[in-house]
Amino acid sequence: MTASVHIGDAISRVDGLAKVTGAARYAAEHPVPGLLYGWVVSSAIAKGRISAIHDAAARALPGVVDVITHENRPHVAWLDMSYDDQVSVPGSPFRGLYDDRIMFSLQPVALVVGETLEAARDGAALVGVEYEREAHNTDIEVALAEKYEPKRKRFGFSLPKSRGDAKKALDAAAVTHSARYHLPTHHHNPMEMHAATVVWEGDGKITVYDKTQGAQNVQKYLASIFGFAKRNVRVLNPYVGGAFGSGLRPQYHVYLATLAAKRLERSVRVVLTRQQMFSHVHRPEAIQTISLGADATGKLEAIVNDATTVTSRFEHYMEVVCNWGLMNYACENASGEYAIAPIDSYTPGDMRAPGAATGMTLFELAIDEMAYAANVDPLAFRLLNYSDKDAMNDKPFTSKALREAYAEGAERFGWSRRSSAPRSMRDGSELVGWGVATGMWDALFMKTAARVRLHADGRLEVASATADIGTGTYTVMTQVASESLAIGVDRIAVQLGDSELPEAPVEGGSWAAASTGAAVRLACQALARKLFQQATKMAAKPLGDVEFEGIELCEGRMRVNGDASRSVALEDIVRASGGPSIEAEETAKPGPADMLSMIRKARNTHSAIFAEVKVDEELGVVRVTRIVIAVAAGRIINPKTARSQILGGVVMGIGMALHEETFVDHRLGRFMNHNFAEYHVSANADIHDIEVIFVTEPDAEVTPLGVKGIGEIGVVGTAAAVANAIFHATGKRVRSLPVTIDKLL
Ligand code: MOS
Repeated sequence: MTASVHIGDAISRVDGLAKVTGAARYAAEHPVPGLLYGWVVSSAIAKGRISAIHDAAARALPGVVDVITHENRPHVAWLDMSYDDQVSVPGSPFRGLYDDRIMFSLQPVALVVGETLEAARDGAALVGVEYEREAHNTDIEVALAEKYEPKRKRFGFSLPKSRGDAKKALDAAAVTHSARYHLPTHHHNPMEMHAATVVWEGDGKITVYDKTQGAQNVQKYLASIFGFAKRNVRVLNPYVGGAFGSGLRPQYHVYLATLAAKRLERSVRVVLTRQQMFSHVHRPEAIQTISLGADATGKLEAIVNDATTVTSRFEHYMEVVCNWGLMNYACENASGEYAIAPIDSYTPGDMRAPGAATGMTLFELAIDEMAYAANVDPLAFRLLNYSDKDAMNDKPFTSKALREAYAEGAERFGWSRRSSAPRSMRDGSELVGWGVATGMWDALFMKTAARVRLHADGRLEVASATADIGTGTYTVMTQVASESLAIGVDRIAVQLGDSELPEAPVEGGSWAAASTGAAVRLACQALARKLFQQATKMAAKPLGDVEFEGIELCEGRMRVNGDASRSVALEDIVRASGGPSIEAEETAKPGPADMLSMIRKARNTHSAIFAEVKVDEELGVVRVTRIVIAVAAGRIINPKTARSQILGGVVMGIGMALHEETFVDHRLGRFMNHNFAEYHVSANADIHDIEVIFVTEPDAEVTPLGVKGIGEIGVVGTAAAVANAIFHATGKRVRSLPVTIDKLL
């Protein structure tokens, strides 16, 4: 047996081999005999009604089995609440092929089912749809006239809280800055397309392989819509090829595949095309107006931070956008207003650090502008206005090592060598710019269960229904179990992504490592106690008469503290019990002390991002040559997988800064650049040096393992650091991301 590992060890991914050899199967890769293929026909209009659907030509095509529309679909639930899921937002959830109403461009209007993918696709091209168009609007500027403050709140949402008299303080301030900032729509583009394989098991039973961040969330959703008993719906998502929030809510591909399976009583697979990936969840377009006032030394005296994001006409999607700036900076007078504005699109949704990636990033652009207005170095400005508490809610943090992050990041980056004036640094023919920004995200702890089972051959199974969306959950849960029971990694098998496993929430909000980790720890502790009790019953009394408190676990054995002569192998205890295995299941959840702590203290992660850009003045080409990001995120379970998470976030942040933008043709109400040729994400050639530092941040209070989570913090503020560096290089301030060449020249 290999040695056990510990929390904090940089072990390699335990699922790495399965992934590089193709043994890891994704939602559309599970082989099923007799499988049918569904191809989605998407609406050509943004709003109106379907007046006629002509499916005869499609039906006549060899290999086409069915054309399913709102006119012939099987019965589905009638009440909105049947379509709700764990992370629903207020409003009426979308229902595919429900009736003749069209609410957004590319809305599914038919599913063509074929014996082959090609037959279904050809058939889809032959479906004729006639529409009655209605006037639509997809323009945020027009939608502002209808904006409103969200009344019913979604989980985790809070409105900004104002303090002091910000407007008055702003009028009186010696130095002020006021501007309007804009973030365009962003679309999720995970490598794995949204897909589902629904296996018709007969007897009203289905097994569903879905691209989702929550197997049990999808299980409950499908059961309640289609009238299955929950026990007859098993959903699996053992591997997920990236999701970033797009798989938090059940999406229409799994709904349509299930609809077809139910109607035809056959197994059906639906895979969306890359174009159709632009037909559902996305990061909402945002406008943020930020006014700042400071005294002559640069000390902030006023913050006015107003934000609007778009939502659909059928649901009220909301994010925490303007709270971050209000929380992060010390300032007596601060106010915020948040509103949502309805447009004729699909409901936006969570996309990596939803709200913070928007609000904190745009706020950090304004902070940079204010630092220049006050003639203070941008890093010194942030330190001058540093808050040790959550300044909006007037609460201390369980921990906040942002000061250390600024210091360690600046040191590593060489910030002290920066010359402050814009356009003052050059490298040959290129302008050089150095920028800084701050990131902030939540550290959450959600009720999660886990089971551990030790077999007589020494193998340990660890199981929880949570997902690994590429983040490293398999690996870090292996580590928690290995440390907890002193069992080697090669003997541990983690099972995730199956609705039959112990209950877990959707994998999101950066809470999975902390929450599932706590559950695995508790389950291991319970198993150790059971193993001890079993050992005391062994005839040979390998541990003598010692109490549980007097034993320790060491390399696969239980032994009397410090006494190697009195020990027993864990699998021998299982064997002596006469059964095949011994198991324990536990649920980790915030207890009374945690609840009290949550009321009294803020729990967040922080980061300091330093960016270097080089700009070709004549061509306007920007290269992000160097990023140093220092992250304060509590205890890091695995520096290697954690670094990968931060790298991914930073790459996404560089994309926000330079590339990512979904364009809408408002005449058509349609996202136009719905492909990788025209929707640009950062590619290898765009990425240069990225250095990740994890700042020491001990925190025994935030979650049971002191873990805060790192899935999202890497993206927050990164685009601002880059845009701020571009200003430093060029003297040109771009307030609407991304900073594209046309805006620079
Ligand atoms: Mo994340 S946007 O909570 O998957």
